Amino acid sequence: MRHLKIAAIGGDGIGPEVIAAGCRVLEAAAAADGGFACEFQHFDWGSAMYRASGKMMPDDGLRQLEGCDAIFFGAVGAPDIPDHITLWELRLAICQGFDQYANVRPTRMLPGIRGPLRDELARQIDWVIVRENSEGEYAGVGGRAHRGLPIEVGMDVAVFTRAGIERICRHACEIAMSRPRRLLTVVTKSNAQRHGMVMWDEVCASVTANYPELTVDKMLVDAMTARMVMKPGSIDTVVATNLHADILSDLASALAGSLGIGATGNIDPERRRPSMFEPIHGSAFDITGKGIANPLGSFWTAAMLLDHLGEPRAAARIMAAVEAVTARGTGLPPDLGGTATTAEVTEAVIAALAGAN
Ligand code: NAI
Ligand code: MG
Repeated sequence: MRHLKIAAIGGDGIGPEVIAAGCRVLEAAAAADGGFACEFQHFDWGSAMYRASGKMMPDDGLRQLEGCDAIFFGAVGAPDIPDHITLWELRLAICQGFDQYANVRPTRMLPGIRGPLRDELARQIDWVIVRENSEGEYAGVGGRAHRGLPIEVGMDVAVFTRAGIERICRHACEIAMSRPRRLLTVVTKSNAQRHGMVMWDEVCASVTANYPELTVDKMLVDAMTARMVMKPGSIDTVVATNLHADILSDLASALAGSLGIGATGNIDPERRRPSMFEPIHGSAFDITGKGIANPLGSFWTAAMLLDHLGEPRAAARIMAAVEAVTARGTGLPPDLGGTATTAEVTEAVIAALAGAN
């Protein structure tokens, strides 16, 4: 029997609620599969620790995580602590410390869910957005000078490296090749940004040339937003910079219906260190502790985690159970128009998992 060592970091707000539900679904998926077991190690890192000790995680936090197979992460963010502290000192500290350079976000319309698009368009949404997760516009390079004076200046410098572009584009090509349509869109803004973005285009072209079976097109980021809304069926896999993909992936999740459903992986494709999987939503203080957080995003996250760890059959089983529950159109949580609690949605998915044998 294979044992998967999973580090569970609930974090803040509804994070611990949805991660606890997700751990139960992972256990149920393992039981239904019979080929592996999940061993969880729980870490109570986050804003409560920060208030008590001034740190979002212990100094040797990364070392504590190093030996696990994957990280299952909830959310960070608290009303009384600045967001740049909670984000940079826990979530980004792990992403950057473990060089999880690919952020991968699948988006598709689950049965029974209604989004803002007309049904015939919404049905066409089945995308994977691959975001560069280590450099670009969020490299953290820049500065401020002459604070408070009329001549004050602030700069964020976008940093693109050949190695960084090559590795993210290669990973996007591999994902595109693993999907039936073998279609990759390279997003750019090289008409207006004539240095880093032109290099991005050139390096992406040289990487995609190694995949002759792939259909590749190039799109300016502004036009890409319109294409996602007007012609969703013309898109399959997308590769974009840190900033561009940040924006496009939020648009994608809005088009797919609810923030409570989406999942993402912060991946090290070379598997040197653990990758981290998380629902896309934040800590949602407005509903924390009420027991009504939608746990479906956490379940989709659990499926991505299992896929990454080489358990695709169990991952597919979780998604089938989630889809069986959304398709019913009843028993959904409040953000999807229903009245079900987190616990009730979790029970329904676990029951569907057991029945899916
Ligand atoms: P949010 O995602 O926490 O909430 C936005 C709205 O969606 C709220 O009305 C919330 O109740 C609802 N919502 C979110 N997830 C839901 C779920 N699973 N079920 C039902 N409703 C759900 O985003 P917001 O309000 O902008 O940020 C709150 C805090 O979370 C901030 O401190 C922010 O920095 C942090 N945040 C953290 C992220 C992370 O850890 N990856 C991602 C996004 C925000
Ligand atoms: Mg975002």
